[in-house]
Amino acid sequence: MKLLVTGGAGYIGSVVVQQLLAEGHTVEVLDNLTTGHAGLDLPGCVWHFGEISEAGTVLDPSFDGVVHLAAKSLVGESVEHPERYWHGNIVASLQLLDAVRTAGVKRFVFSSTAAVYGEPGVEQITEDTPTSPTNPYGASKLAIDHMLTAEAAAHGLAAVSLRYFNVAGASGALRERHDPETHLIPNLLKVAAGESPEAKIFGTDYPTRDGTAIRDYIHVVDLAEAHLRALEAAQSGEHAIYNLGTGTGTTVREILDAVREVSGSEVPAVEHPRRPGDPAVLVASGDRAARELGWRPTRSITQMVSDAWQALQNT
Ligand SMILES: NC(=O)c1ccc[n+]([C@@H]2O[C@H](COP(=O)([O-])OP(=O)(O)OC[C@H]3O[C@@H](n4cnc5c(N)ncnc54)[C@H](O)[C@@H]3O)[C@@H](O)[C@H]2O)c1
Repeated sequence: MKLLVTGGAGYIGSVVVQQLLAEGHTVEVLDNLTTGHAGLDLPGCVWHFGEISEAGTVLDPSFDGVVHLAAKSLVGESVEHPERYWHGNIVASLQLLDAVRTAGVKRFVFSSTAAVYGEPGVEQITEDTPTSPTNPYGASKLAIDHMLTAEAAAHGLAAVSLRYFNVAGASGALRERHDPETHLIPNLLKVAAGESPEAKIFGTDYPTRDGTAIRDYIHVVDLAEAHLRALEAAQSGEHAIYNLGTGTGTTVREILDAVREVSGSEVPAVEHPRRPGDPAVLVASGDRAARELGWRPTRSITQMVSDAWQALQNT
């Protein structure tokens, strides 16, 4: 297939591009480099450095599909400056969909998020769990999901939304490099590497097996594979939604232990009160993705930490 990947210079997008190229697809990337990185080692990829809103100048009928990962994705910023998320995510995605329709591109895979569910308080979040985002970031992603449902029904687009939970790990040198970094594993690894003095554990009195919050972590290589399966499975006129989860979760303390073991570093950690709005448990059922896409994550927490650690040390 010939594919346009928006956000292909970012963490997850770059690994998706790597796998698409490895499977023999033709890949072009559209990225404005606001949080992405130039100079990635992805031979064969054609780069367009620009805004999603300029997709109309790139797309033409020779494209088979779009994988849309480009987004603003900081929850805190979305609360302080919601307008940035309405413009950067909702309006920009609408412009992208206009370009897709005009060019007659048939397939569309979208990076949605666990944030569309808010704090559902269920043991496992399924695709039927009611959506109730608690911040503009999640609301903006949910709005795009709704756009895709309507676009598929009205214009025959073959659309898939993949709802990611916690993504970690690296693929060779392609690693997480967010600034600010809000994710647990890269922040713990910075402490292990001596780049940061101590780790912070927010909340040790949750009703979980060790008192710390439980999240569902997926290796970025497993996650990227789901995009390839989604592109193949997409059906004209349908908008399919899949949670990408393992069905089991890992506590903050368990992640900390894995980081200590892999790095051989003490990783000093200081306990802090819970952060407002942080639910005790967010775990996804991946059953629908397993059934319909034939996709299941296979890589362990130790592998996520160890791949991320290797990549950090080699770059
Ligand atoms: N990392 C996670 O754990 C996680 C979890 C759930 C959902 N997601 C979603 O996955 C996607 C990728 O996340 P990531 O962690 O790789 O983020 P990232 O910031 O590393 O990548 C996003 C990329 O999009 C580009 N971009 C942003 N706005 C753009 C615009 N208007 N025009 C062109 N390019 C633009 C950035 O430069 C960057 O390269 C995002 O949509 C995010 O919301 C990520």
